[in-house]
Amino acid sequence: MSMQEKVVLITGAAQGIGQGIAVKFAEEGAKVAIFDVIEPKQTLKKIQDSGGQVFWQNVNITDENLVKESISTIISNWDKIDILVNNAGIFPIEHFHELSVAMFRKIFDINVVGTFICSKYIVQHFISKNIKGIIINIASVGGLREELFHSHYSASKAAVISLSKSMAFELGKYGIRVNAIAPGAISTKGARTATPFQESGKIPPEFMEYQSKKRSPLNTMGDPEDVANMALFISSDQSKYITGAVITIDGGRSLL
Ligand SMILES: NC(=O)c1ccc[n+]([C@@H]2O[C@H](COP(=O)([O-])OP(=O)(O)OC[C@H]3O[C@@H](n4cnc5c(N)ncnc54)[C@H](O)[C@@H]3O)[C@@H](O)[C@H]2O)c1
Repeated sequence: MSMQEKVVLITGAAQGIGQGIAVKFAEEGAKVAIFDVIEPKQTLKKIQDSGGQVFWQNVNITDENLVKESISTIISNWDKIDILVNNAGIFPIEHFHELSVAMFRKIFDINVVGTFICSKYIVQHFISKNIKGIIINIASVGGLREELFHSHYSASKAAVISLSKSMAFELGKYGIRVNAIAPGAISTKGARTATPFQESGKIPPEFMEYQSKKRSPLNTMGDPEDVANMALFISSDQSKYITGAVITIDGGRSLL
């Protein structure tokens, strides 16, 4: 599944699932561009140490002008972009009746509107350069079912899934494929330290571990690499007839 000559843009790749995807694509020979609001020191080091090409821009995906300019910068440097992975997202946990409207709006702004903004300008690039590009949206099993203390998050990821399907439908005529990956509990810094509940002490710190173990038939959390392997596969020609799909990677959690 060589990715030689491909340019991939991954949002939120400073850590966690995004880092796993960035490292995986770099190992396969892709040039990796990263948008993140924190410096992805570890990701840059991992890729550069193994001889890969990587490039970070400090971009908040909700900032339309900055996203647009930063996509142009990647294209100026590397001529094109072939693959977009919309991974950046937040998942603070809160009791439904204590959720603020501001938080409800914020989660939609980052998880949904940010995904839309990045996709819109990448699709313009794909169409103008006749690139049969790939978009992968990192959703969540929470977008397919209920999630405890995560009503705002679940709703945002359901929107990401819906957006993916409509994009796949509308953009298929350009040869652009759009798929969503719906992970279950993946062991990342974000999942281990989901705020604000831990800071406020309202919910026990073992919450995520407890949830994942209790709610996966495999009785364990997944790793970023589990998601990265699928991202690689659905970016390759081996998956050339797959678009509009929602692929769960959840240890069977959605069966329960
Ligand atoms: N970890 C899980 O259990 C799990 C399960 C299902 C879905 N997901 C989804 O996978 C994605 C990654 O999750 P993770 O666990 O690796 O999270 P994480 O918190 O470890 O990493 C998320 C990254 O996104 C970046 N980011 C956040 N807001 C941003 C913004 N506005 N602009 C640019 N970058 C931004 C962060 O700085 C961070 O580097 C998220 O969309 C999340 O909802 C995670």
